[in-house]
Amino acid sequence: MNILGIETSCDETSGAVLCSGRVCSNVVSSQRCHASFGGVVPELASREHERLIVSIVDAAVTEANITKNDLDVIAATAGPGLIGAVMVGLCFAQGMAYALGIPFVPVNHIEAHIFSPFIDAGGSHPSPDGAFVSLTVSGGHTLISVVTTDLSYTVIGRTLDDAAGEAFDKTGKMLGLPYPAGPVIDKLSEKGDPAFHRFPRALTSHSQTSRNYHGNFDFSFSGLKTSVLTWLQKQTPAFIENHLPDIAASIQGAIVSVLVEKTIAAAHSRNIKAVSIAGGVSANSALRKAMKTACDNEGITLYVPNAIYSTDNAAMIATLAGLKISRGMRAEQSYNVAPYASFPTGRRKA
Ligand code: KG4
Ligand code: ZN
Repeated sequence: MNILGIETSCDETSGAVLCSGRVCSNVVSSQRCHASFGGVVPELASREHERLIVSIVDAAVTEANITKNDLDVIAATAGPGLIGAVMVGLCFAQGMAYALGIPFVPVNHIEAHIFSPFIDAGGSHPSPDGAFVSLTVSGGHTLISVVTTDLSYTVIGRTLDDAAGEAFDKTGKMLGLPYPAGPVIDKLSEKGDPAFHRFPRALTSHSQTSRNYHGNFDFSFSGLKTSVLTWLQKQTPAFIENHLPDIAASIQGAIVSVLVEKTIAAAHSRNIKAVSIAGGVSANSALRKAMKTACDNEGITLYVPNAIYSTDNAAMIATLAGLKISRGMRAEQSYNVAPYASFPTGRRKA
């Protein structure tokens, strides 16, 4: 089965083809037009998707060495995301499926991130044997969920304010770094000392070990943002410039330690021996390293996506559509799925 995936929920225009469970192409174009604004400008994002969607989808099909007529199913992100941006990919995908007379599968972007560690598993072993705890960390979302093998999941923790990616991007902006600042902070931190300054770790339980953690699994990063701002205001520009790697590493350390502590605690609380990380922030080298160390210490298996599947991509959209079909979901021949902007709570099934 050949599945075309399309992703346009934020600032990446992406098309990918999954051939019998294997990624045959994954074309991603990251929009550069937002850099000078310090964040994604929704209207510009929609226009860029509109400009690129035809050539990206064309490239994805060509790279997969097939023609459009060889496609069996088309899948696209239906939400959550910037509504105008989602609409471009969703309308294009449904129009294309209609024109080709093949089924269309709507995909939830966050659910696609959750299952991204299992991309390229060849379809034979697409998810862990048992339940796992997923830390999904992107520019717009920060969630801890318990995922079961039937693709059901329950969100047990989420951010009360900013997402982890936003914490990277906004504190990076304060340091004069370009958008998205997450990867820049990651790189700068390689030469920095995370103990240089201790920024706050909100909603953590310092007196508890992760084994008898009495806190909840929610996050808050707005206090960190304020703390970085007020601390920077007390420093001279020369001091900041001289210590940029140390400051970056200290900010990164504060974000990463909270993410690791809560995820491990969540796994213990549910007696689950497998953890995964996903979403743009899961590309962070310090998070990957700290989570691996914590999991090894606790006898927990860690699932991590290939770095190219951490940030937004259409391979994860096509993969989740494939998983859903392989688990018995019938791809509908209906082409009027509406886009949505936000992510609902409660127990859900992908
Ligand atoms: O999943 P994603 O590509 O898009 C959304 O769905 O939001 O995530 C983008 C976020 C941005 O905030 C970006 O700064 C962050 O992921 N990010 C990183 C790294 N690479 C991307 N944050 C920290 N370290 C990285 N290496
Ligand atoms: Zn994303």
